[in-house]
Amino acid sequence: MGNVITGTGRFVPDRRITNEDLSRVMDTNPEWIERRSGVKTRYIAAPGVGPSDLAAAAGAAAVDDAGLTVDDVDVLITATMTPDSFAPGIAPLVQTKMGLGPVAAHDIRQQCSGFLYGLDLADALLSSGKATTALVVGAEVHAGYQPWIESVPFLLGQSDTPPTAEQYERNTQYRAWSVLFGDGAGAAILQRDANPTAGIIASRLFTDGTHFDLIHVPAPGFTRQPYLSLDVIDADLHMPTMKGRELFRQAVTLMPQAVEAVLADAGLAVADLDVVVAHQANARIVDAARKQLGVDAEVVPINIDRYGNTTAGTLPILFDELRRDGKIQPGALVAFTAFGAGAHWGAVLYREPEAR
Ligand SMILES: CC(C)(COP(=O)(O)OP(=O)(O)OC[C@H]1O[C@@H](n2cnc3c(N)ncnc32)[C@H](O)[C@@H]1OP(=O)(O)O)[C@@H](O)C(=O)NCCC(=O)NCCS
Repeated sequence: MGNVITGTGRFVPDRRITNEDLSRVMDTNPEWIERRSGVKTRYIAAPGVGPSDLAAAAGAAAVDDAGLTVDDVDVLITATMTPDSFAPGIAPLVQTKMGLGPVAAHDIRQQCSGFLYGLDLADALLSSGKATTALVVGAEVHAGYQPWIESVPFLLGQSDTPPTAEQYERNTQYRAWSVLFGDGAGAAILQRDANPTAGIIASRLFTDGTHFDLIHVPAPGFTRQPYLSLDVIDADLHMPTMKGRELFRQAVTLMPQAVEAVLADAGLAVADLDVVVAHQANARIVDAARKQLGVDAEVVPINIDRYGNTTAGTLPILFDELRRDGKIQPGALVAFTAFGAGAHWGAVLYREPEAR
């Protein structure tokens, strides 16, 4: 028996922000962003819309795509680093918004590797017999972090007021990471399949906590008493910090190594791969990882140009696009891989069934 992806879905908000837009509210330019990261546009959720809303929409699309109803889902796994509220996580909100039964609903973090960890958890739950139909969702609303979020009404033509000099300076201060991220959600249904050679065939997950601060949001946090204060906000400790070059260096080495490890576990080779669904943090990272693996560009698709880095949403959004575009052929060998905050990384090797 194998654990097979029988349905996928995605959902992104409709507010689209271009590089040209961003260059009106900070000291940057569209060419720099595109050349250094590959991002051209990103989607941004409206105020009041949380990752649970995007996750519920993506999840519903996946249930529908699998030809199921919400009553068939018996375990839910949600991954996000931007929950609707500090606690509880988004799993109960997604369960309720989708109208799922009173199922086990896991909240996991793992940031850019969240969906990868979710796939592995679903695989384990299905293989153990604890579940028959798992819904795994990665969802992110980074909008609230964005220093430039207050300029969005101006960018959307809903206000004539450009950023103040102070806001412009603050937007520029955070430009290295704030141009990279976007909002969105993707989802997959996993089910048992009678064919033991189809579905997830190997997975390797890794963590190295010595790199905890590669990308880090220091506050709110419970080493501080009180855990949140005006001093903490004044010091901007609620804003992400990122060691961009070190992240880059680690990602281009560790993702290909993880892919090679799962291939070796399965007794397969890089030449057997049809598609690599790689985390989209930077098009240059994806391209460098592809070169490390020694595969052609069409094997490692890129969609960061349209979405930016949607963190936990990235892998399932990309996989859903590929599947709906007919790019995941029957019998295709697919490697999912990601590297991100934690640091957490890894790869999952997947064989698409011969017939759906
Ligand atoms: C962030 C990243 C795009 C920066 O690219 P880089 O080539 O390393 O650029 P640097 O950070 O060295 O900055 C180079 C210059 O560009 C400037 N710069 C940074 N962001 C800019 C922006 N948005 N617009 C214009 N200039 C910018 C810097 O200030 C710096 O200027 P200086 O040389 O005068 O100091 C790149 O390091 C990256 O993508 N890293 C990985 C990020 C990642 O994986 N994040 C998600 C975690 S999963």
